[in-house]
Amino acid sequence: MVALSDKKGFQVSKIEIRELKKAYRNGDRESIVALDGISLAIENGEFVSIVGPSGCGKSTLLYTIAGFIACDYGVVLVDGTPVIGPSMNCGIVFQEYALFPWRTVLGNITYGLESKGMARRQREEIAACYIERMGLRGFEHCFPKELSGGMKQRVAIARTLAYEPDIILMDEPFGSLDAQTRELMQDQLLDIWRELGKTVLLITHDVSEAVFLSQRVIVMTSRPGKVKAEFSITLLKRQCREEIMISDEFNQIRNPIWLAVREEVLKVEQAV
Ligand SMILES: Nc1ncnc2c1ncn2[C@@H]1O[C@H](COP(=O)(O)OP(=O)(O)OP(=O)(O)O)[C@@H](O)[C@H]1O
Ligand SMILES: [Mg+2]
Repeated sequence: MVALSDKKGFQVSKIEIRELKKAYRNGDRESIVALDGISLAIENGEFVSIVGPSGCGKSTLLYTIAGFIACDYGVVLVDGTPVIGPSMNCGIVFQEYALFPWRTVLGNITYGLESKGMARRQREEIAACYIERMGLRGFEHCFPKELSGGMKQRVAIARTLAYEPDIILMDEPFGSLDAQTRELMQDQLLDIWRELGKTVLLITHDVSEAVFLSQRVIVMTSRPGKVKAEFSITLLKRQCREEIMISDEFNQIRNPIWLAVREEVLKVEQAV
């Protein structure tokens, strides 16, 4: 991990979230407190996952980091500078694949590169690489409406990875994929992260996925979302996937995280 410093030479985290609070106000109805004082630091090049019960504020947290929504209290700093709106340095894969329906697969994937002003030949070369990695070869000229849900999500992932933002935010990117494609995409993401050294923040419902992919897992409480616990993942990922997933070490790391999430899920169920 390469340490970052701000303009004055002070060491800063890649992403720093301080005391973040966010409530949604829906007219006269009672406001919904989504985030209730979240503080978190993510270092440059780190791969961090967030798990927590449905509705605990995970997407809200991601949108706030990406600058799509403003918080009520607290601050998000990227490279030591407050986030005041969306930035090209921060790429996001939305929970529900948000593709441009009027653009083909290729057109969607090259979108960010066009915005960067890259020449057509170069952007098509880069897009071809991600089309290959995401298993989309042969579908370059299809429009989103011609694709299955899983394929749309792969296009959305390719679109974000292709323009190589400093920070990659992913909101349950593999949720709509079948088990085998999900594993292939996880492997691709790990390879890309290792190659490019970008900072990745991944939201997932799947504790095994979080343990397999990340260096640190953050468990959120049920709504209003706070940080319940943090787990460092010391798993050595030298063996192949199958060996890792059935190892005692993997289960020893996974089980306390799974229990922490379950405790929060039960709170939601008991409240209903
Ligand atoms: N635009 C909105 N207006 C009102 N309430 C909202 C809005 N967006 C989210 N909420 C509410 O805020 C809470 C947190 O929502 P959020 O989508 O961040 O949760 P989540 O953890 O991502 O859930 P899931 O795991 O189901 O994706 C939920 O109770 C949700 O209903
Ligand atoms: Mg969500």
